[in-house]
Amino acid sequence: MSWRSPLLTSIPPHVVAAADYMALARERLDDAAWAYLDGAAADERTDAANRAAFARLDLQTRVLRDLRGGHTRCQLLGMALPHPLLLAPVAHQGLFHPDAEAATALAAGVMQTPLIVSTLSTLGIEAIAAQTSGPLWFQLYAQPRWEDSLRLVRRAEDAGCRALVLTVDAPVAGVRNREQRAGFALPPALAPRDLQDCAPLPPGQPGTDPVFDRLMAVAPRWEHVEALRQASALPLLIKGLTHPDDARLALEAGVDGVIVSNHGGRTLDGLPASLDLLPAIVQAVQGRVPVLMDGGIRRGSDVFKALSLGAEAVLLGRCWVHALAAAGALGVAHVIRLLQEELALTMALCGCRDLSEVRARA
Ligand SMILES: Cc1cc2nc3c(=O)[nH]c(=O)nc-3n(C[C@H](O)[C@H](O)[C@H](O)COP(=O)(O)O)c2cc1C
Repeated sequence: MSWRSPLLTSIPPHVVAAADYMALARERLDDAAWAYLDGAAADERTDAANRAAFARLDLQTRVLRDLRGGHTRCQLLGMALPHPLLLAPVAHQGLFHPDAEAATALAAGVMQTPLIVSTLSTLGIEAIAAQTSGPLWFQLYAQPRWEDSLRLVRRAEDAGCRALVLTVDAPVAGVRNREQRAGFALPPALAPRDLQDCAPLPPGQPGTDPVFDRLMAVAPRWEHVEALRQASALPLLIKGLTHPDDARLALEAGVDGVIVSNHGGRTLDGLPASLDLLPAIVQAVQGRVPVLMDGGIRRGSDVFKALSLGAEAVLLGRCWVHALAAAGALGVAHVIRLLQEELALTMALCGCRDLSEVRARA
């Protein structure tokens, strides 16, 4: 990889919000890596909708309440966390920083923030785990050979991961026009380490359909969720739900949590904003398992809004990757701190002492 300007080694005083890292990341990355990071599917309407939905929702203050002893702490799947923020799984971090996921893991550990390690990480799960004392979760993309998926799960368990996240909304890649226009291709040196021992997708056969006979032939189905449930004692979450009926099926399959997500608008353009999808899924789940969400979060007040609509916690995506590209572990830790502080300030100004009071705003 070649970077266009050096990494920051301290935070410039004008960087005071997560969004300030965006321009710094843009300066540093070449056009192709930027298209991969910042781009979304097709006309990128869903990605824009994710952010617009937060902008549309207004906050309400309540004043003069006794908020002494207030905090942003929460319990999630048996884990005590300082705040309801997790780092979403992000593939190929070697594109953004020479230390790739090791830098992210360092920051996540310092901030005691769960890091969801992508199947498509540049570094192997063991190398990432070695960099952090914080909670790691493992995100699984089911592999063409089911045994390979199970082997990845075992490695994640052995590396100390504390939950599994099965991503179900990307059995085929989105129409990534921005990447195509920029000529993005993953440099061979950055091929994901954990997939080196996994069988590749079988080649297409003449006269067969490349989507249905090739990609969808090996795509996971509900029976695989149940198989995964049986195969591991770790809490299992499904990421990429947008329909309440799928949330009900996920409960039947025995999942421990659902993540409302449209993949940051990177798979199917035309989906509604995650925030707009959240209430119906919260209602379908009826408090039986935690509902998490991601997509478009750039501010602590966005986190407040998602929680007020019933999310138990949120995943941060592009906002910390911008910081990783600009300033490595320091940047990622700074973004987490900014969002936590903004969440605390929003809670104080809205008269909420803890996250249960935020959720009661629904
Ligand atoms: C560069 C990039 C790579 C991603 N890689 C993965 C991945 O490997 N697995 C996955 O489940 N989601 C992946 N996602 C989606 C994120 O986990 C998350 O759903 C999304 O970024 C949230 O939207 P936001 O970026 O607007 O916060 C990726 C997102 C980005 C921006």
